[in-house]
Amino acid sequence: MGSFPLATDLRASVPLVAPSLLACDFGHLEREVRQLAEAGVEVLHLDVMDGHFVPNLSIGIPIVEAVRRATDLVLDVHLMISEPDRYIGAFRKAGADLLTFHIEVVPEPTYLLREVRGLGAGCGLSLNPPTSVQTIKPYLDQCDLVLVMSVMPGFGGQQFQPVALEKLRELRESAGPELLLSVDGGVGTETVAACVQAGANMLVMGSAFFRRQDYRRHFDELTQLAGSSKHQQA
Ligand code: DX5
Ligand code: ZN
Repeated sequence: MGSFPLATDLRASVPLVAPSLLACDFGHLEREVRQLAEAGVEVLHLDVMDGHFVPNLSIGIPIVEAVRRATDLVLDVHLMISEPDRYIGAFRKAGADLLTFHIEVVPEPTYLLREVRGLGAGCGLSLNPPTSVQTIKPYLDQCDLVLVMSVMPGFGGQQFQPVALEKLRELRESAGPELLLSVDGGVGTETVAACVQAGANMLVMGSAFFRRQDYRRHFDELTQLAGSSKHQQA
């Protein structure tokens, strides 16, 4: 599969810090999104949960629509749901630019990756901490994005699991320098450098990002931290 234009554009801006809206103030969603855009953020990460694949519920289609109305930023929608094939059309229509689903629920993902592309979005595959990278290796060249979970999905604010670093290294080595390789869960000031050195070029951050009020300063600091770690990549 050739490369998707949006993914090509995003690669020009790596490393990307992608705030996860799960940790934002939903009572002031529009203001949050505006402030993130003003801070220089390019990608917003939106976590969709179904109470089945993960033991929690979160953002659904109307919230993705509301965020889309509020901004032109890239919407990176992470589907932590058991039946992504039933909903990708609706999430695309709601405004998702990148649609990522889990290998654990779609072990043969080629058809769905193609379908996402066919809908005009970038396609991503994700894997949980206990899942082997071997499960997704055959599909790397079909993905615009690979999302390595560094916690069991379902909740923000969990502790980073170092097993993710080995996976990032292995995936970066197999996929080469071009792939958008994202890491999600427990990423913050203490873990950014290790993630980037292991090969991540997209850093999803929920609680660690929204902990601070001054988004612009915090975003700059985190991006700088990720950028300088890049030069120390092994
Ligand atoms: C967890 C979600 C994450 C979550 C990360 O299931 O996929 O995107 O928002 O939150 P933090 O950064 O707080 O671990
Ligand atoms: Zn996520």
